[in-house]
Amino acid sequence: MAVNVSITIGGVEFSNPVFVASGTFGYGVETPDLVDINRLGAIVTKSITLQPREGNPPPRVVETPSGMLNSIGLANIGVDRYISEMLPLYESFETKIITNIAGFTVSDYANVMEKLEKADGPIAGYEINISCPNVEGGKMEFAVDPEMTLTLTKELRLRTQKMLIIKLSPNVTDIVEIAKAAEEGGADAVSAINTVFGMSVDTSSQQSNIATGIGGLSGPAIRPIGIACVHRIASAVDIPVIGIGGITSGSDAVEYMLAGASAVQVGTANFRDPAAGVTVLDGMIDYCEEYGITAVSQLTGALKDEP
Ligand SMILES: Cc1cc2nc3c(=O)[nH]c(=O)nc-3n(C[C@H](O)[C@H](O)[C@H](O)COP(=O)(O)O)c2cc1C
Repeated sequence: MAVNVSITIGGVEFSNPVFVASGTFGYGVETPDLVDINRLGAIVTKSITLQPREGNPPPRVVETPSGMLNSIGLANIGVDRYISEMLPLYESFETKIITNIAGFTVSDYANVMEKLEKADGPIAGYEINISCPNVEGGKMEFAVDPEMTLTLTKELRLRTQKMLIIKLSPNVTDIVEIAKAAEEGGADAVSAINTVFGMSVDTSSQQSNIATGIGGLSGPAIRPIGIACVHRIASAVDIPVIGIGGITSGSDAVEYMLAGASAVQVGTANFRDPAAGVTVLDGMIDYCEEYGITAVSQLTGALKDEP
């Protein structure tokens, strides 16, 4: 039995629901020999900012039980080089490209988007990383405030007809309120979650293991947090939710789909195996075959009542 794995989000049809997460797969051009990227539903690129950024000082990544902590600080080549060097390479990709945008003011995000829109490259849509300190809003992150999320989403919606995804942070009082603001602002989908605040300390040097002190925790350690966030959001909004956090297998992805996700992103698992996304997809197909499910989209929100 062939399983139909295609899904549609914001009017864009994806060959399957397994994407690779921003910051964990570079610009998508670094690993062509290690993985058949055309089997991925989409590549979400590293966050792109208006100006190039070197990011935070090292050490900025450290392993922790069942996950990793990072504080990369949005290191990237900037939108102009992204347009001149990366967009032409994407012309030959069958996999869809979702460009992730970051910024420190509303006009930062808007300027990056306007440049990308003008460049008219093969971009299927945008994912907006709102976990950045808003320098105009007193360094409070866009992600923690429904009003700021609404304003940003509206401004970006005015500038593109392409698929617009707002990527939510779990480091907030109520992620559902932020998801609703993104929906009200005109987002086609939300993705959840970004990394969770975390810290680890080297007891011999008595210093934090990463230079910035606190970092972002990712990997299997955060999977239950991600699934709970997706479930709560999917129960409260009418737009699709893309599940992210600790996915390493088909079964992990199925958990997210049953809890309400329409698609998933694989992040930290790519550092161990760049083909992790393909493994996740194959595992989902095996699951569907085993349970007689003909279309992977039927999994979305199919969770049965609590035991
Ligand atoms: C090293 C590293 C860099 C990341 N960089 C970004 C980024 O630039 N933009 C972004 O939106 N998310 C970034 N993320 C967050 C991931 O896209 C993802 O939301 C998070 O890691 C949870 O998924 P995972 O547990 O599968 O890794 C980064 C994560 C890691 C581990």
